[in-house]
Amino acid sequence: MKALALIGGFGTRLRPVTYVVPKQLIPLAGKPMLYHVLDLLPDDVEEVVLATGYMADAIDGYVRSHPPRWPIRTVRESEPLGTGGGMKNAAAGMSDPFYLLNSDVIAAADLGSMARRHRASGGVGTMALARVDDTRPYGVAALGDGDRITAFVEKPEPSDAPSHWINAGLSIWGRSVLDRIPPSRAVSFEREIVPGLLAEGVFGFRLAGYWDDAGTRERLLRAQRLLFDGGRGGDGRLPAGSTGDGPVAAMEGSSAAGASFGKYVTLGPRARVEPGARVEDSVVMDGAVVERGAHVVGSLVGPGVRVAAGSRVESAVLADGAPGTTR
Ligand code: GDD
Ligand code: MG
Repeated sequence: MKALALIGGFGTRLRPVTYVVPKQLIPLAGKPMLYHVLDLLPDDVEEVVLATGYMADAIDGYVRSHPPRWPIRTVRESEPLGTGGGMKNAAAGMSDPFYLLNSDVIAAADLGSMARRHRASGGVGTMALARVDDTRPYGVAALGDGDRITAFVEKPEPSDAPSHWINAGLSIWGRSVLDRIPPSRAVSFEREIVPGLLAEGVFGFRLAGYWDDAGTRERLLRAQRLLFDGGRGGDGRLPAGSTGDGPVAAMEGSSAAGASFGKYVTLGPRARVEPGARVEDSVVMDGAVVERGAHVVGSLVGPGVRVAAGSRVESAVLADGAPGTTR
């Protein structure tokens, strides 16, 4: 089987950082979001096709310098085509069936067993489902006998949500679904195509472990906590010469001698936390500096940002050289 990863969104809910770096390259627990998703794929996947658009050069460059364990091909959109349009644009040579991945979700999921379930079901699709309390940001499934999906509503009002089981952004489809997507225009796969496929048999695959969509600051930091707690943040050891709790994922070239940490922190490549500064529940991206005595909590600090000595940054998304930057 091949996999098609959707990676072209603007990441609007993580601006201003997503003005300077695509959402999927933001590191969580020491690794870009995209790589946590790809890690879920079985080893025997033949090829991963990345359907890119927004900041495609940055994605290409990163993938070239950090090659994943499967052959990778990127297919670019010259204008955003939406999830369905992105699938259509990348359809050539796709396997039957294929994995479809949103590239901003983190999950404990056994996609190999989902594929076996898919083949046994005889249906056209199998969708991993996560149980959440607030269904508003997601696509919601109604389930019938044998977990067959009987209705699917994208981002419904709570009163219209048929259940608490939502599209986890990890699914398997027969290649024929690609023929159902109209060419050369923006298409939402979830809104325009999925409801019409239900008659051909689309089944839910309920996930039991953790799941999150890292598309907002709150959910991104929650996703990072889940990754660390799920053992996917490396050893989490405090950087040399620092004190505090951890886990901290200190990426190559980062330093923090004399600094202190609360729980759940990623220090991106070459990030620096100066003596007397403190960071907790945050992501400090590549080359950013938290100066002496500064305190960063619950925040996403973009590449190259300097958090001024002695200042306090809380629940913020900071970027340099981007419109809308609040500093
Ligand atoms: N190639 C391409 N082109 N990819 C896109 C485009 C596009 O125009 N727009 C979005 N994507 C990618 C995003 O980068 C992301 O990886 C994925 O498609 C889903 O887009 P989001 O913008 O993150 O969608 P969402 O989070 O609001 O909703 C989706 O994900 C939920 C689970 O996280 C839907 O699939 C929901 O049904 C689902 O519950
Ligand atoms: Mg999303």
